[in-house]
Amino acid sequence: MAATKANIVRLGHIEFRVTDLERARDFYVDLLGLHETERDADRIYLRAIEDREHHCIALRKAPSAGVGALAFKVASPDDLDILERRFGALDLPMKWLQRGERLGLGPTLRIRDPLGFPIEFYAEMAPVEWLLQKSHLHRGAAPTRLDHVNVLTPDAQKGYAWYTEELGFKCAEYTEGDPPENRIWASWLYRKSTVHDIAVMTGPGPAAHHAGLALGEPMNVIRACDMLASAGYADSIERGPARHGISNAFFVYVRDPDGNRVELYTGDYLTSDPEMKPIRWHLNDKRRQTLWGAPPPRRWFEEYMGVEGMDGTDLLPVSAPLLQAIPDYID
Ligand SMILES: [Fe+2]
Repeated sequence: MAATKANIVRLGHIEFRVTDLERARDFYVDLLGLHETERDADRIYLRAIEDREHHCIALRKAPSAGVGALAFKVASPDDLDILERRFGALDLPMKWLQRGERLGLGPTLRIRDPLGFPIEFYAEMAPVEWLLQKSHLHRGAAPTRLDHVNVLTPDAQKGYAWYTEELGFKCAEYTEGDPPENRIWASWLYRKSTVHDIAVMTGPGPAAHHAGLALGEPMNVIRACDMLASAGYADSIERGPARHGISNAFFVYVRDPDGNRVELYTGDYLTSDPEMKPIRWHLNDKRRQTLWGAPPPRRWFEEYMGVEGMDGTDLLPVSAPLLQAIPDYID
């Protein structure tokens, strides 16, 4: 395969569909602690305290929950041209969003990738005030940045190949089943030097499982849980707090008022060294998901966020996974 040579920098932003913009804003801003940068008629644009650019999450008014797009930042406009040529050669559905079609964003190339996902690539986003050292403005869990997204696809081996061979991602950790298949069940893939920008898991897809927000320290996870509970959102705390085997992160998963899933995540590790070998986990090693803490509830596996097609309206139908999607140790 003649892979693209475009320089993808990191996961840049995600668009969540929400049915009530103000209710969603209260959840993400007043409780989780993101900051509103700007808004228009359809969207509220949010950023985290480490962000130097316009937004990392956009909340968009829509008739149901789900994900409108996942977006990767590339190093320069030339990288967008490289991607356009390569995706054209692969005959992928593709369109350009012009500068300003989304607040703060430069020209954006939107594709439907071979896994069926709406993926956007951009090189430019408007600079904003850096809030990291504006401690008096920090609230809630004070997320530092959008760390990663986790997606579901029927064939996670194919997803691994797309990201590593075509887009130049590296693998930090992966989960595999038994021989003779030895097929990858999930992989944690990165461009920035942490465990992942995207995890690709086996499941009904194309669908999104969660977006991960990085936090400064574990106490911020606890503080978020306390605030959610006291504000009437105790039932939105879905899994954790606990520690992952994969990534080593301390985490909790929460559901927003529409059911979109967000992970609050802190304490993973550096992946910059080129000789680093991926860590292999067996699918039925429950310590890969939860090093300590309660196992995931069944709904954590069964419930997902639909994703939109190229037209940005309807959610795409999903296909059943090729491998067992729920490990044997889950009740
Ligand atoms: Fe995650």
